[in-house]
Amino acid sequence: MEYLKLNNGVRMPTMGLGTFLMSPAEAEAAATAALATGYEHIDTANAYMNERAVGRAIAKSGVAREKVFVSTKLWPSVYDAGMPAIDATLARLGLDYVDMLILHQPVGDYLTAWHTMEEAYSAGKVRALGLSNFPQNKIAEVMSSASEVKPQLVTVECHPYHQQRDLRAYLGPYGTIIEAWYPLGHGDASLLAEPVFEELGEKYDKSPVQIILRWHVQMGTSIIPGSKNPVHIADNADIFDFRLTEAEMARIAELDNTKTYYQQTEEALASYLKIRPDFDAQE
Ligand SMILES: NC(=O)c1ccc[n+]([C@@H]2O[C@H](COP(=O)([O-])OP(=O)(O)OC[C@H]3O[C@@H](n4cnc5c(N)ncnc54)[C@H](OP(=O)(O)O)[C@@H]3O)[C@@H](O)[C@H]2O)c1
Repeated sequence: MEYLKLNNGVRMPTMGLGTFLMSPAEAEAAATAALATGYEHIDTANAYMNERAVGRAIAKSGVAREKVFVSTKLWPSVYDAGMPAIDATLARLGLDYVDMLILHQPVGDYLTAWHTMEEAYSAGKVRALGLSNFPQNKIAEVMSSASEVKPQLVTVECHPYHQQRDLRAYLGPYGTIIEAWYPLGHGDASLLAEPVFEELGEKYDKSPVQIILRWHVQMGTSIIPGSKNPVHIADNADIFDFRLTEAEMARIAELDNTKTYYQQTEEALASYLKIRPDFDAQE
């Protein structure tokens, strides 16, 4: 495992398991397999409706709490609920703190929610704070409204087809890291079949997926590949025993600006505000 140092000094494992689109049973099984394989980071969210399952996997794993970096995300429907929404999130996970708490979408009263997260940070309920899917102008709004805690992480769609170089340059001076969601393009077969990954895979005796994940790590990006397959889960963590050269990194850079999978429209953002699940109803 390698680690990233966040701008508040917290050490974050570079890679972890994503649990988007997993049922509670799938998330519990995947997180259990990941923790048994040596993963130290699991990512969930209110909206994934599997926080309880992730909490169960952590509790049953036998891994010491301080050895697991747990990240979750507040959904916009709870932004105006204040501290009870954070306490309910912790209760579902069965934890008295999370390592990373993220505002999931830049809609609704996210500045008030940010200030509540800062209070949770000061109270020791959260070790680091992040933003998800925030465009640069809204990140700037949070940066200027934040008291002493600047975002430690911004999580966005990021993969070889969409490398987020402008955002990386903007966040650099704040020491805020990028976490890649869809690090594998959500498993896009055309991305995984790019000849450069096959070729480098042969050179290093790794799979194309492992080459992509290694590229992310060398970019200084945190990654949370999702997988329900224990073999893939183990393979995805087996990326710390080789290093791509600068020339190879430059070849992968050439794939940038080719494709994005997610379009953030005002309509989509407005629709998120209307999605108000009963998070406590999950198994
Ligand atoms: N903040 C946000 O708004 C947001 C949005 C989307 C996602 N996320 C987070 O980012 C995480 C990652 O995104 P994602 O899971 O949607 O996409 P992803 O990690 O880019 O790709 C997952 C897909 O790749 C496949 N895969 C994984 N490892 C593989 C391997 N070694 N070989 C071949 N195929 C492999 C998986 O299938 P198998 O199950 O068969 O392995 C799955 O279909 C999510 O789980 C979630 O935690 C956050």
